[in-house]
Order: sequence, then structure tokens, then C-alpha cells
Amino acid sequence: MSDPGQRLRTSLAADTAATSGTDFDSPIAMEALRATRVLHAADQEPFPAPGRLRVVTVANQKGGVGKTTSTVNLGVALALYGLRVLVIDLDPQGNTSTALGVEHTVGTPSIYDALVGDSSLADVVHPTTASPNLRCVPATIDLAGAEIELVSVVAREYRLRRAIEGYVQSLPEDRRPHYVLIDCPPSLGLLTLNALVAGDEVLIPIQCEYYALEGLGQLLNNIELVRAHLNPGIAVRTILLTMYDARTKLADQVAEEVRSHFGELVLPTVIPRNVRVSEAPGYGQSVLTYDPGSRGSTSYVEAAREFAERGVHLAPVADPRPMGPPPPPPATAPMPVVRPQASATGSRADRSLAGAAFAGTDAAVLPVPTSVDEENR
Ligand SMILES: Nc1ncnc2c1ncn2[C@@H]1O[C@H](COP(=O)(O)OP(=O)(O)O)[C@@H](O)[C@H]1O
Ligand SMILES: [Mg+2]
Repeated sequence: MSDPGQRLRTSLAADTAATSGTDFDSPIAMEALRATRVLHAADQEPFPAPGRLRVVTVANQKGGVGKTTSTVNLGVALALYGLRVLVIDLDPQGNTSTALGVEHTVGTPSIYDALVGDSSLADVVHPTTASPNLRCVPATIDLAGAEIELVSVVAREYRLRRAIEGYVQSLPEDRRPHYVLIDCPPSLGLLTLNALVAGDEVLIPIQCEYYALEGLGQLLNNIELVRAHLNPGIAVRTILLTMYDARTKLADQVAEEVRSHFGELVLPTVIPRNVRVSEAPGYGQSVLTYDPGSRGSTSYVEAAREFAERGVHLAPVADPRPMGPPPPPPATAPMPVVRPQASATGSRADRSLAGAAFAGTDAAVLPVPTSVDEENR
């Protein structure tokens, strides 16, 4: 496993050597130098393109763990370093849209129109100011009703998958995104289910705090069920440790525990707790554009580079993605039902939430099918 940030340090050391004896050795000058590298490095060292389109579902049913922050900053980093990226905001709060400076007031064409209405994704894609390579599908508050409105929609679990497939195939090859990043809401309802069915891989941000692993067992369980019944291609491929506070022993313990559980899935680079990261959305920006020389910014660049390098060896498929849902399971197959289970650290609250989402114990609120319904495939 490579040393986190080694590449950046090496290149910074080279810069320091090149500028030693000049005025460039003060901390401020070094930060300015780092900023320049972040903003202009695409010319010097673009990230490698993935072997095929990567549709990445950023999920964790816990709120406040860094899903939105990671989606935004990884997305901007990939785009600044030369890759085409589409970010889809699937959280009715619209925080991703805010952080990318994309309008998301009621009435703005948004992901709601593609999921519940007849719009294609192309109709609701917006440019961003962060990079011409980065486009965003915003979420408006309308999306809050989608969990219920989708219940009666045909093939409700496949709406997002089909929207992405249609969008990608409508574009000429040289304009298709390399990455689609989907920011999920903090729940395991029908929106997150759509994102898991649409994705090829899941990225789970884990906050380096107490309770970090709580509920994770349930999320993994649900991903397994989606894989078994709705999307055989989905798997957790990346864990990103966020909000690491080097002053606390706890952060180290959590990071160690996560690495011992998930091994190579965990990116070597850890995102530190950094005030610039939390300030950036207030200015409608990512931390890379708000304060490119900050530690938050350079860490996200390094994490994005590691993430991109993992995509290089993915085998291309004949066409970007096969159209439509996979064939329905035989009528006798067991239903996608999860019994709420105790994860090692899971609380009763999150066990029952996940159980309700997938077992349909509260069908009006968390409408996931409990039977194979031909009409809905
Ligand atoms: N590395 C970080 N350093 C400081 N604050 C952070 C960092 N990452 C996220 N935050 C802040 O933590 C809060 C929750 O992050 P967010 O990405 O919105 O989580 P989620 O999408 O999982 O709910 C936000 O206020 C965000 O600005
Ligand atoms: Mg969020």
C-alpha cells in the first residue's frame, strides 16, 4: 500500500528544491504553490481515464459522514484533472447542488423530473462553474415526495439506471462521462435503492468518529440483497475515511478498525477534518476551488487520484451499459427481504430503519416490493 500523499509530497519537495534560496520557502508561498498545482496540474499530470464508464453510488445511511462533501470534492478533482464527470444529487436537501453552485429552487429542472416525470437526464443536466468537465443534476425539495410517488411508477427501482443509460447512449463517445457520481440521502429508502440499482460500485465514506461503524452491517446487507435480486454488478469497491482529526486517538482507532475490516477497499489517503472543507459550500464551491492549497483540498486530490487509478484496469464492455433491468428472478426465488439483524455495533434504531426499508414493514413510507411484480420490472 503506498504511503498516503507520498506523490504530492514528492512533487512538493521537488518544487521546494527548485525554489530554495528564493522567497518561495515560507508557509504561505508553499500553500500558494500547492494551490497552483491543484488548479493547473491537469496540464501536467491528468488522472488516468477508467477502462469504462464508472457509475459510483456514494452511500451511507448515517447522516453527516461526508457523503455530499466527498461526492462534490472527488467529482471536482476528477474533472479538474481532465476527466468528464456527471454528479447526480439524490438528496432532497440539495446540498450537492448548493456546493456546486447549481440552482435548485422549486421549479428548476431536476432529478425529480427524470425519476418521477418524463424528462430525460439530458433535460435536467446543468453546467457547473467548477469545471467545464463537470456537470450536475440538481435535487429540489420536490424529491422529498419521490419516495412515495415512485411507488406506483412502473419499474420504480430501475428509474435512475434507465435515465443514466439513456443519457450516456445519447451522447457521442467523446462527450460521454468517465464518471457518474450519485450522492445518496441518509436513508435506505427507494431513492437509495434506485442509486444502488443504477451503480456499478459503491463508495462508502466513513467518518473517523465514535459510532462510525454503526449501521454499516445493515448497509452491506442491503447491498448484497440488491446484488442478488436487482443489480448483479453492484459491489462495494471503495471506502473513504473522512473527517480525520490527528489530535485524537479515537480517529486512529477508528481508521485502524476500518482498515482491519475492509483492507484494500480503504483508500490510503484519509481526508482530514479541515475548516476550509466545511466553509466551501457556503460559497457555492468545492474546497478545491475555494481554497486549493488547503489540506482538505490536497487530500481530496490525492484520494481522487487513488480512486481514478483503481479504475484503469476495469474491462471495457461492448456498449457503455446494457439497456434495461437484468432479467427478473424466477417466480420461486426468495424475495428481497431483510430481517433486521444485529450488526456488531448497530443500534436498534438503524436496524429497524433498514429492516423497514427492505422488508416493507412500513410500506407507505418505505415502499420496497415484497413480491416479484411483473408490472414493476
Ligand atoms: N473533512 C471535513 N472537515 C470539516 N468538515 C467537514 C469535512 N467533511 C464534511 N464536513 C462537514 O460535515 C458536515 C456533514 O458533511 P456532509 O458531506 O454533508 O455529510 P452527509 O452528506 O453524509 O450528510 C457538513 O457540514 C460538512 O461541511
Ligand atoms: Mg449529504
